[in-house]
Amino acid sequence: MSYSTPIEKTETFLMYVNVFRQSVRKWKIMDITSMAIIPLLLGSVGVFGLYKLLQRLRTRAYIQDAVVVITGATSGLGKECAKVFYRAGARLVLCGRDREKLQDLVRELTSSGHKSEKMHKPHTVTFDLADIEAVSSAAEEILKCVGNVDILINNAGISYRGTILDTDVDVDKMVMETNYFGPVALTKAILPSMIKKRSGHIVVISSVQGKISIPFRSAYAASKHATQAFFDCLRAEMEPYEIDVTVVSPGYIQTNLSLNAVTGDGSKYGVMDKSTAEGMSAADVALAVFSATGEKKKDVLLAGLLPTLAVYLRTLAPKVFFSLMASRAKKERKSKGS
Ligand SMILES: NC(=O)c1ccc[n+]([C@@H]2O[C@H](COP(=O)([O-])OP(=O)(O)OC[C@H]3O[C@@H](n4cnc5c(N)ncnc54)[C@H](OP(=O)(O)O)[C@@H]3O)[C@@H](O)[C@H]2O)c1
Repeated sequence: MSYSTPIEKTETFLMYVNVFRQSVRKWKIMDITSMAIIPLLLGSVGVFGLYKLLQRLRTRAYIQDAVVVITGATSGLGKECAKVFYRAGARLVLCGRDREKLQDLVRELTSSGHKSEKMHKPHTVTFDLADIEAVSSAAEEILKCVGNVDILINNAGISYRGTILDTDVDVDKMVMETNYFGPVALTKAILPSMIKKRSGHIVVISSVQGKISIPFRSAYAASKHATQAFFDCLRAEMEPYEIDVTVVSPGYIQTNLSLNAVTGDGSKYGVMDKSTAEGMSAADVALAVFSATGEKKKDVLLAGLLPTLAVYLRTLAPKVFFSLMASRAKKERKSKGS
């Protein structure tokens, strides 16, 4: 048993008093801090909300009555973009290879519940992007039909699956013509009218694979890298004419892209890849394309954490990225038993 002396007792008492005083002081500081932080937080949320609302109104005003040309409108992302831009009051020109599918889409849009005076019946133009002559006459047809193009959305594209060794050069060329030369030719044919007006906007749907290359996608990744490079150059060259260029690079989207992909011998791949099936919804990506267009963003990466990290890794630690891709190739080869 221990007995404390009166001096020890007084010391203990003084220590408790001190601790109590310190706590009171701390609580006061916290009280003042919380009094300042809460209104500051609420204010920031309010300002942010107002900023977003203004941005949305500005986007609506920008799209309303604008002539918007969308390629690849018969399927996937192009079709969803058509819906979003139509609802916002754009004067649409829907492009694709299949006239019937385009007409079906026009019927779907005009008979949808969203009826208001600000909506315009879309025009359709049918052509194959891989046929450069057809592209230039399509551009003439578009300009004749609507006068000027305010926004051109180069969305159409085709994917590819195969090994470089087993792929015909004709397949590389076909993918390049569809994904790169076609959009380039269409853009070049439309640009002079935009320059004359000193206004216009070119939007391009590239891909994460326009920033990093994944094994067994060589032709596709090459075409998207070329797309990114071309439109980055265009952005700089068009600045004096006040023409905007937006490159959107999405990760996987739930569309028919992998089903429609070509293989090394030119035949259809015809498989719905797991990564595509589990990708972002085409409707969500279309909304992101709509906002990026309205906000005149220059370059948009629409991807999850891993693909985004991979894009940075390719630049900051290329050796690590290359070895990761090599092991991915090895794994994929093993799973296919080749
Ligand atoms: N899905 C993804 O995971 C993903 C990811 C990143 C980027 N992207 C890009 O998103 C864009 C849209 O693809 P999607 O995913 O919506 O695929 P999709 O469902 O296969 O649609 C592709 C569209 O492009 C059109 N097209 C293909 N070849 C054409 C040609 N030679 N001439 C004219 N039109 C042609 C198709 O028209 P037809 O009906 O005539 O075939 C179709 O309308 C593409 O640029 C693609 O590279 C897709």
